[in-house]
Amino acid sequence: MHSELADYRQRRPVAPLRLPDGRTGWLLTRHDDVRRALADPRLVKDGLLSPLGFRPQLPPDIYAATAQNMLAVDPPNHTRLRRLVQGAFSARRIGRLTPAVTTIADRLIDELDTPGTHDLLAEFAFPLPITVISELLGVPAGDRGIFMGSASIIVSGPNRGRELPGAMIAMIDYIRGLVSSKRRQPGDDLVSALISERDGGDRLTEDELVSTVYLLLLAGYDTTANLIGNGALLLLDDRTRWSGVRADPDRLPQVVEEVLRYESPVQLGTHRVATEDVEYGDQVIPAGSTVLLSILAAHRDAGQYTAPEAFDPARERNPHLAFGHGIHHCLGAPLARMEARIAFSRLVARLPELRLAEGFAPRWRRSALMHGLEELLVTTS
Ligand code: HEM
Repeated sequence: MHSELADYRQRRPVAPLRLPDGRTGWLLTRHDDVRRALADPRLVKDGLLSPLGFRPQLPPDIYAATAQNMLAVDPPNHTRLRRLVQGAFSARRIGRLTPAVTTIADRLIDELDTPGTHDLLAEFAFPLPITVISELLGVPAGDRGIFMGSASIIVSGPNRGRELPGAMIAMIDYIRGLVSSKRRQPGDDLVSALISERDGGDRLTEDELVSTVYLLLLAGYDTTANLIGNGALLLLDDRTRWSGVRADPDRLPQVVEEVLRYESPVQLGTHRVATEDVEYGDQVIPAGSTVLLSILAAHRDAGQYTAPEAFDPARERNPHLAFGHGIHHCLGAPLARMEARIAFSRLVARLPELRLAEGFAPRWRRSALMHGLEELLVTTS
């Protein structure tokens, strides 16, 4: 993926591209262009979380229930929907979750710490954020398997196009069931808080409520799991990095930022639609076009970063775009950063002998949306 994107960035930084549905889109790969586009008010959302502008055929009620969350809409609806949940993700509120997240990480490490080969992705990197987001939202532990299968199809986007409508329908059905059980029996969780906004304050429609839960469930786990997985690979691949973090855990925040730049969990995940003709590079992108923004490509732009192809855990200047930029800047960034720091600090402290399994060769998932590994085989002793 990196070399293909580098080729675009060098030869055709603003490139016309055939979309999965046959239309022409435009791909931006330079850091300056991607950053500018993320905050360009002439480039808007078009109402569906549809990677690469791919629009599966959906019954209208399902479409409505997936398409009305902050990530899929523009101001003023965006402002209202984001404000409703923003408090739950503030740095202060997230800081208070640190002990709970540490306990979850330690429990998973207890199970990992046994002889033989383990898949660090399946046994640690995925369960950690799934447990955290499920606890925040109030998803019962026994239900997590139900939505995980659908969620992983949805975030694969066009690569699993035929399975996509079924997965989206299953996910919305699950969330509607969750909402009705929380209506009957509210808890101290974000879904119950959103229900009281809807029922008491009337500041949210039913579709917006379901759609917001849908977004939070999807946005919060695959991305973070890939940050942990991609980071663990980078640390284990070179023992000096692993021992460096172990000797000086205070360096972790900087290391996490470099993982976010170097192997960004979102690659072509985000797109916009041009409301008028817009000029990028020496191209005019016509009104109505879909514009794809490659965060992964932007992060290897030599115009922005010194030695962009090198993973440098001590990199000083790192204005990466892994969490986006502008009004849609990732709401969960403080949570994702905290989970990754805890994940790495507990792994190096508790499993100093963790190593890549002998002969392990990384394979990257075929997904246009996410940048993550198929598996990460390790041994712990
Ligand atoms: C938005 C990346 C974790 C919730 C975004 C965007 C990016 C992103 C690139 C902007 C997309 C755009 O402009 O179209 C990531 C990465 C993560 C991560 C790389 C982990 C490493 C999380 C978590 C949550 C979350 C843990 C919380 C549950 C959201 C939400 C938005 C968003 C709600 C929409 C914000 C808006 O439209 O105003 N994320 N994210 N993300 N993210 Fe994250």
